[in-house]
Amino acid sequence: VNRTPLIAGNWKLHNDHLQAIALVQKLAWTLQDARHDHAAVEVAVFPPFTDLRSVQTLVSAEKFELRFGAQDVSEHDSGAHTGEVAASMLAKLECSYAIVGHSERRQDHGESSALVGRKAAAAVRHGVTPIICVGETEADLEQHGASAVPVQQLREALAELPAAGEIVVAYEPVWAIGSGKAATAEQAQQVAHALRQTIAEVRGDEAAASTRILYGGSVKSGNIAGFMREPDVDGALVGGASLDAAEFAAIARFQ
Ligand code: G3H
Repeated sequence: VNRTPLIAGNWKLHNDHLQAIALVQKLAWTLQDARHDHAAVEVAVFPPFTDLRSVQTLVSAEKFELRFGAQDVSEHDSGAHTGEVAASMLAKLECSYAIVGHSERRQDHGESSALVGRKAAAAVRHGVTPIICVGETEADLEQHGASAVPVQQLREALAELPAAGEIVVAYEPVWAIGSGKAATAEQAQQVAHALRQTIAEVRGDEAAASTRILYGGSVKSGNIAGFMREPDVDGALVGGASLDAAEFAAIARFQ
C-alpha cells in the first residue's frame, strides 16, 4: 500500500497573516529550489485561523503545491457556537486537513477523546482530512508504558467516526513536545504499530494499511531520517522547527 509521506508544520500561536505570507512564500521557494517532489512527499502548513485566507490566496495565485490546514475545527456544522470555526468553512478555504485533539488543546481546553472524535467526524463530513493527535504524558509513560494511553485515546475518538473517510493519526508523546527530547525512532515505531493495530480492529485491515501515522515531538532535520526509516511512521507533525523555512524544507527532504 502506498502511504504518501506527510510532513506537517503546526505553527501553533505564531505568525500574523503578513508573517504567514512571508513564511509560506519562502518555504515554497525553498522547496522549489530543492526540486521537491510534492507527489512523493506531501508538505502542509497549519497556521492560525486568521491566516488561512491569506495562505489560500497566495497558494492558489502562485499555484504552489503546498497544502495547508487548520489547527482545530468545531464539532458543529453551524449554529449558536461563539468562537467556533466549522469544517465547511475550512473546506471552502481549500484546507486539506484539520488537526484535532492536539495535547495542548486537551490540556488547555479539557478536550476529551470523544470530543476529538466528533471534531474529526465533522471534518470528514466536509471532505477535510482530520489529523487525530494522541500521546501519553510522562506520568502515563511511567505508569502504563508508551502505547496504552495513545491507543485508548484513538479508540475513543474512532468510536465517534463513520467507518469510511480518510484520517491521519499523529502520535505525539507529550513529554517530547517542545522539549528538545524526541522519542527514539524505535519508541515511535512501537506506538505507531500499536495504533495501526487499533485502526485495523476498529476500521478494518484495508483502512489500517492505508492510514498515515505521523510522529511528532521535537522533530528536526537532524532526527527526521531515523523516524522515516520506521515501517509504521509515515511522516511528522512538526512544531517549532516548522517556523523556519529552510529547516522545515530540510525536514521534508528527510535530511
Ligand atoms: O504539533 C506539533 C508538536 O506539538 C510538536 O512540537 O516540534 O515543537 O516539539 P515541537
